[in-house]
Amino acid sequence: MVAANQWIKIKAPATVANMVCGFDILGFAVNNPYDEMEMRWMERSGEEPSITIINIDEYQLPTDPEKNVAGAALIALLEELDEKIKESTITKGISSPNTGKIPATTKIKFEVKINKLIKPGSGVGSSAASSAGAVVGANYLLGNLFSKDDLVRFAMNGEKLASGVKHADNIAPCIFGGVTLVRSIFPLEVVALPSPQLYVTIVHPQIEVRTADARSILRQKVLLKDAIKQWGNIAGLVVGLMKSDYDLIGRSLEDVIIEPIRSILIPGFDELKKACKQAGALGGGISGSGPSIFMLSKTKEIAIAVEKEMNQLYDGIGLPHHTYVTTINQAGVEVEA
Ligand code: HSE
Repeated sequence: MVAANQWIKIKAPATVANMVCGFDILGFAVNNPYDEMEMRWMERSGEEPSITIINIDEYQLPTDPEKNVAGAALIALLEELDEKIKESTITKGISSPNTGKIPATTKIKFEVKINKLIKPGSGVGSSAASSAGAVVGANYLLGNLFSKDDLVRFAMNGEKLASGVKHADNIAPCIFGGVTLVRSIFPLEVVALPSPQLYVTIVHPQIEVRTADARSILRQKVLLKDAIKQWGNIAGLVVGLMKSDYDLIGRSLEDVIIEPIRSILIPGFDELKKACKQAGALGGGISGSGPSIFMLSKTKEIAIAVEKEMNQLYDGIGLPHHTYVTTINQAGVEVEA
């Protein structure tokens, strides 16, 4: 366990959820952008709050822990902490370095400084980075008492606050790194998937699409013929990743259920996708609930050519935007003492 009052540094990566056909179940982490956080624990006195959030960015997000996604995730962790300490004390013995000095929940306080470099509402897992970063940081401070699956469960409370629904397709890759499949949420089962070298180009048109809104426009029923196509693509994508079969990955990056509805919220979407594929991208689509769009490519040269197409299209229609050329992040949230 890290000593009281000692700050740790946390780096929480952006994530691309859905991975086109895997709505709410597939996602991957990227190396750029990422959020920076700092965190420490201290003895809590009297009626002091158990979580203090300090925003050091421009976004003016709420600092009330119940209204902040990092706070919501930490509240869930604190709710299970006493039980976990008790369990670890029984299984590992009272003198275990992991458990011996941890104060009960009522005596502990976390301070979290958040510097968001991932713009909220951009569609690349901004809320997931805050929630996941906070619980991975807290767990590190506590001597890694909880498993990664536990941390995903806690962090999903942040997603619930942000979008109204618990989903883990940003949280899981943010915590595990790489590409992840969320086979089930209740009970939670995350499967880490391998992937060949892939370059990721992301464009973030400067409009805001709220995840809650992008979810509320979706149909609740799907046609069987669409479901068949979709699960063929999901299976094809997973196999393509496991066999490093770039062509199969490319063919499987197709979404016949969500994209036709959500893409109307993103100016120039169809044209952009066509131009990127012509430039050599394997495929891509809406990142999370948008408005960002991502494309996967086999080489860095193609990823840069794809970025050029994105710039040209949005410059052409006069829509301010931001692009990233990056790779899949394999580490997930990183902590430095
Ligand atoms: N799977 C979620 C959605 C991700 O598409 O609504 C939100 O970032």
